[in-house]
Amino acid sequence: MTGRYQEIYERSIADKEGFWAEAAENISWYKKWDRVLDDSNAPFYRWFVGGKVNTCYNALDRHIENGRGDQAALIYDSPVTNTVQTFTYSHLRDDVARLAGALHARGVTKGDRVIIYMPMIPQAAMAMLACARIGAIHSVVFGGFASNELATRINDAKPKLILTASCGIEGSRVIEYKPLLDKAIAMADHKPESVILFQRPQSDALLMDGRDYDWEVECAKAAPSDCVPVDATDPLYILYTSGTTGQPKGVVRDNGGHMVALNWSMKNIYDVDAGDVYWAASDVGWVVGHSYIVYAPLLAGCTTVMYEGKPVGTPDAGAFWRVISQHKVKVLFTAPTAFRAIKRDDPKAAHMANYDLGSLKALYLAGERSDPDTLQWAENSLGVPVIDHWWQTETGWSICANPRGIELLPIKYGSPTVAACGWDVQVLDEAGKPLERGQIGALAAKLPLPPGTLPTLWQNDDRFKSSYLEEFPGFYATGDAGFIDEDGYIYVMSRTDDIINVAGHRLSTGGMEEVLSSHPDVAECAVIGVHDDLKGQLPLGFIVLKSGVTRPHDAILAEVVAMVRDQIGPVAAFKKATVVERLPKTRSGKILRKTMRSIADGESYNTPATIDDPAILPEIAEVLKEIGYAK
Ligand code: COA
Ligand code: AMP
Repeated sequence: MTGRYQEIYERSIADKEGFWAEAAENISWYKKWDRVLDDSNAPFYRWFVGGKVNTCYNALDRHIENGRGDQAALIYDSPVTNTVQTFTYSHLRDDVARLAGALHARGVTKGDRVIIYMPMIPQAAMAMLACARIGAIHSVVFGGFASNELATRINDAKPKLILTASCGIEGSRVIEYKPLLDKAIAMADHKPESVILFQRPQSDALLMDGRDYDWEVECAKAAPSDCVPVDATDPLYILYTSGTTGQPKGVVRDNGGHMVALNWSMKNIYDVDAGDVYWAASDVGWVVGHSYIVYAPLLAGCTTVMYEGKPVGTPDAGAFWRVISQHKVKVLFTAPTAFRAIKRDDPKAAHMANYDLGSLKALYLAGERSDPDTLQWAENSLGVPVIDHWWQTETGWSICANPRGIELLPIKYGSPTVAACGWDVQVLDEAGKPLERGQIGALAAKLPLPPGTLPTLWQNDDRFKSSYLEEFPGFYATGDAGFIDEDGYIYVMSRTDDIINVAGHRLSTGGMEEVLSSHPDVAECAVIGVHDDLKGQLPLGFIVLKSGVTRPHDAILAEVVAMVRDQIGPVAAFKKATVVERLPKTRSGKILRKTMRSIADGESYNTPATIDDPAILPEIAEVLKEIGYAK
């Protein structure tokens, strides 16, 4: 490959320090770094060591000082409450500074953790930025998680304070957050000192004396807080993500490297400039929301859109087009599942005729593999480049993308294009040996990873090493498998572990299995991800009952479905399970989940040589046929 991308990419690999030091000039520093990359403690690498910064200053104050105070920083568009509200940079900074003051008044200082359990309202973004302003470390927990998951995160992050709201709104349903939060705090061993709650008009939550405080009252009496300089390597946030067990991984993000990488990505990957309107239709509970609803667009001086609604049903499949035309969105970023939902409801994209989409220059998709059908449908309907890019909670920004701001490379359906600058992506075999072009293997990135990626897991260096660094020494194991073609295009095909992807949400089947196993009638179980036309994958449970259990299967199945909803949350979308006599296993006792998945999806499969009893596979196929799979 030749061209501008290739030249810039090669420099990013050959001269990492020079490349990122140059990008770091676009961020304001209280003190510049002593070293761009500290590799003295490999495999732990640190970017911009010795530098002093503040992320909130760079996201808000800096733009006001540069004359953007009256520009829209955030547009809150909420079809579920019929609200559109615009916050200028000055307005947002003032609200954030007051909230930071309120946090400070409740004893939160630099290094303290604050959990944010909030719906998609501007106060959620303010909460993140207020923490950043005073050097507190935020950890946002997605609203679709149940109390149990929230309690796990409270125990791990040990927050001094929790920021929340009275309710979320899911389509036409009001979801009360306070009872979920109260239950989580009751379950957790660690107790936060206080809770600050934003009362929404749709629900008035009960505040507990001596612990819970009203957001608006607290902010009204607080003195605005100024930005506190922090080390570039200090944590900005912790974001929990699914691992292979029920214990989520606390991905840590630093301040300095994160800002440098995100700010760089806005121009070079998304091709947007200060003043442009950028919309990531995701949720602040996910990494996409952290990076591309809140931090990156604000760092770059753009206007970010915060959308509280769905792609369909709020009110119809034209919702995205309405938002694009009303706010003159230049770049939209969402998950393929959102487009599958729109395509399902409006296959001819007839709603588009009602809106002027002239402002839109590109659509970016991530979160799951973009199926070529959906990608082509979006391309044909919108008439703009549709760009699949690959990244993870751990990486914070894309590992692989079409670098549109540098040059738009030809799009190949099914590939998220090429390695992003700073990423040395290789395909390795089980022994860690690089594979030839075209051969499928584990996708790994050579260390050090570029700035913005996880320096470690929260207070768990050992798990960081064992999860990502030990499988292939000198590399970060992404957990994804795929191949690289002759042109250097990367294809991400599947996970190498038991993580599944449901509507762009990453979920652990291991976590669901832990819930199923705790049912008194269940002897053993397995959960696999089966293909779903809308959500990409859906979890499907198999349970083997303890001998002597005579209760009706339907009752037991309904109970396990309810348990997953109650203990993990509705977001798991665990709605289907079945009873089997036994599970297919290897002779060493490992459940053959991958083979079960192939049978369920009607794919051809080989009977693994290590299988204990091959006769069991046709049995499983029969059961799956009875419940509508294995066709
Ligand atoms: N608070 C409480 N509950 C929530 C929630 C929240 N913040 N977000 C989702 N839920 C609930 C939903 O109400 C639903 O509950 P139900 O089982 O009672 O219907 C369940 O969790 C699953 O939600 P969701 O995955 O959103 O599925 P859906 O069927 O409501 O909608 C799509 C399907 C495709 C429209 C939807 O997944 C979507 O818009 N996806 C966009 C992609 C995206 O945002 N990805 C994030 C990463 S980029
Ligand atoms: P999350 O950490 O929730 O962002 O999920 C990350 C995982 O989602 C990755 O490891 C992949 O398995 C999958 N993923 C994200 N983006 C893509 C993509 N563009 N193509 C294929 N898989 C993707």
